[in-house]
Amino acid sequence: MYTGFVVFKRFAVIYQAKKVQRMRTRITELLGIDYPIIQGGMHYVGFAELAAAVSNAGGLGTITGLTQKSAEDLRNEIRKCKAMTDKPFAVNLTFLPSLATPDYPGYVKVIVEEGVTVVETAGRNPQQVMPALKEAGVKVIHKCTSVRHSLKAQSIGCDAVSVDGFECGGHPGEDDVPNFILLPRAADELEIPIVASGGMADGRSLVAALALGADGINMGTRFMATQEAPCHQNVKEALIAATELDTRLVMRPLRNTERVLNNSAAQKLLEKEINLGDKIKIDDVLDQVAGVYPKVMLDGEMEAGVWSCGMVVGLINDIPSCKDLIERTMVEAKSILEKRSQQVSI
Ligand SMILES: Cc1cc2nc3c(=O)[nH]c(=O)nc-3n(C[C@H](O)[C@H](O)[C@H](O)COP(=O)(O)O)c2cc1C
Repeated sequence: MYTGFVVFKRFAVIYQAKKVQRMRTRITELLGIDYPIIQGGMHYVGFAELAAAVSNAGGLGTITGLTQKSAEDLRNEIRKCKAMTDKPFAVNLTFLPSLATPDYPGYVKVIVEEGVTVVETAGRNPQQVMPALKEAGVKVIHKCTSVRHSLKAQSIGCDAVSVDGFECGGHPGEDDVPNFILLPRAADELEIPIVASGGMADGRSLVAALALGADGINMGTRFMATQEAPCHQNVKEALIAATELDTRLVMRPLRNTERVLNNSAAQKLLEKEINLGDKIKIDDVLDQVAGVYPKVMLDGEMEAGVWSCGMVVGLINDIPSCKDLIERTMVEAKSILEKRSQQVSI
């Protein structure tokens, strides 16, 4: 349970107003950023305002491609972001089962024409977009949930992988391997840089991720609770109120598992899963999953349907600016790296 005192104590110790030094890892060098911190694509949250704020703070912000209804809408969003930052930012392209197939070639064409330097792919294997992106020199980070999918991504020319552990918000896949196992397994097998995704919140997460073999961290849920995240205040307050016990896995029988914040829609969906058993189809759950994000994220209708949220919500107790969040993460990480070795005798 959050107490103001605990938060104050932690940040009073770590958050000193001194210039935060750059940290170099294979990820910062690959992407041209100051700190190894990425904001993952988030439907109806990853707009230009958030992406630019993260990039201006020295991380890598991400515009969520499919939130834009057409390739030309994506072009406008990219231009808006470019007007707000001269730092690198990414576009997320998600390949998940959807009712209408998005215009992926059109989105890729716009990404290349607008000079975006990084693409985060997710969902299915991004083979179909690789030739166009690689020819244009775009760096591709494929986000996936298993070692075998990471190896496949490496074999088709992805520059890095973002490994999403079981604790992540969004789609954790069907293998249920948490990051304490998944990251070192991936590090043992891969040559390309690895980003730890899922459960990342602060400097402790960053140092732990580095220790487990990652070259940086990707945060989704944590970046939703920031001042610049363009989602409704109700969403941010729900994140602050929730604990690590408040997420649920839905759509597992459809093999499209999603980790969401528990609400009445999640309960209704889980009841349907029990009642319909093997016979359940996507049509049966459309009321809880279709067209939900604009209602929740923009209008603040918290019970309108299910929406992604990671277990890391239990570590979220405030709504900082992206700059404050990234700076204090780096200050804390540096302090842990310096001090822990003095506190442990070998
Ligand atoms: C509200 C929300 C929406 C998301 N939408 C997408 C998406 O459209 N595409 C995608 O690749 N990942 C999506 N994600 C996953 C994030 O990019 C990231 O991988 C994940 O949140 C990491 O786990 P964390 O929430 O524990 O930080 C979403 C996550 C959240 C919380």
